[in-house]
Amino acid sequence: MRAFEISGQFGLDHLRLVERPMPQPKAGEVLVRMSAATLNYRDLLVVEGTYNPKLRLPLIPVSDGAGVVQATGKGVARWRSGDRVTPIFFQGWLEGEPDREKLGTGLGAHLNGVLSEYGVFPEDGLLRVPDYLTDAEAAALPCAGVTAWSAIVKLGGVAPGDAVVVQGTGGVALFALQFAKLAGATVILTSSSDAKLAKGKELGADHLINYRAEPDWSRAVKDLTNGRGADLVIEIGGATTLAQSIRAVRVGGTIAMIGVVTGAAASAVPLPLVVMRQIRMQGVTLGSRADFMAMLRACAAVQLRPVLDEKRFAFDEVSAAFARMAAGEHFGKIAIEML
Ligand SMILES: NC(=O)c1ccc[n+]([C@@H]2O[C@H](COP(=O)([O-])OP(=O)(O)OC[C@H]3O[C@@H](n4cnc5c(N)ncnc54)[C@H](OP(=O)(O)O)[C@@H]3O)[C@@H](O)[C@H]2O)c1
Repeated sequence: MRAFEISGQFGLDHLRLVERPMPQPKAGEVLVRMSAATLNYRDLLVVEGTYNPKLRLPLIPVSDGAGVVQATGKGVARWRSGDRVTPIFFQGWLEGEPDREKLGTGLGAHLNGVLSEYGVFPEDGLLRVPDYLTDAEAAALPCAGVTAWSAIVKLGGVAPGDAVVVQGTGGVALFALQFAKLAGATVILTSSSDAKLAKGKELGADHLINYRAEPDWSRAVKDLTNGRGADLVIEIGGATTLAQSIRAVRVGGTIAMIGVVTGAAASAVPLPLVVMRQIRMQGVTLGSRADFMAMLRACAAVQLRPVLDEKRFAFDEVSAAFARMAAGEHFGKIAIEML
């Protein structure tokens, strides 16, 4: 079978399409023919070697995919050939709180990912794809969807009428926008692009801020919330956005700490405000299989469709797909169709 592999060294230039032996499912395992994958910013960091330069190579990258069950190993009761499935991100985090062991089971980093024609997963490591979703849409869910679900619903506890700031228009951000609207919140969306903001409005964003035109966007958030500040900020930027997020959130509000797209080391952060305004800095690390199932129930109830970038890529165009992400040209999830 064909698979993309980071072999000798990290870097987009070293991502290679290689032949690997066809995997065989052992007892309790399931063989899946992958039909679609989507990219996360984290996958780009993995390929570039900045996510964790100590990852063991060779490695098949990318965590998020969907496919069809081809065969099952001995004792597998849950799946049959032909079932449409999507692998969960942390194969060992089924429920409850995370711990080091569970977080050491991420696809496309600790374990081989989905950029291969076939993959083998433990039967608990898969969930059924809802009938109303395409394979590419289902492949958008495991990382970005579950992370946004945790930030808005499980850890964010967003209630009707809350004001939520969503940073950017990437994969996590647009799920956060959709889930926040589902929860009855008012959404303030920030982006570098007016064209992307206009698309965000179509998805339900109530207020739009171009963060390039308004670098001091916390003031706009304050104005839009009658001076109160946002109940929740979905923090995607990291280094250059955190100070603004701290200023934008209300007294007693929450910043969901998710991303570091502008860098991992933040300076000039107004830490006294965090203390004096009792701001909750809530780290978010995806979620469990149980969280994924809760999210799928909510999505199915309103037939929520993940937002896919308008440009689609074929399996042999993976490098171009990563380049589009690196250039920040996308809106929503970048999908790779593998069949
Ligand atoms: N903690 C977790 O469990 C978890 C899970 C998934 C992802 N993440 C992290 O979350 C981040 C986003 O991941 P993703 O896959 O959604 O990435 P993505 O699709 O590449 O989206 C990144 C977005 O960031 C926005 N952005 C860039 N600079 C910004 C700024 N200064 N202010 C506001 N927005 C800015 C851009 O929006 P515009 O183009 O609209 O400007 C861009 O679309 C990454 O750092 C990733 O590692 C964390």
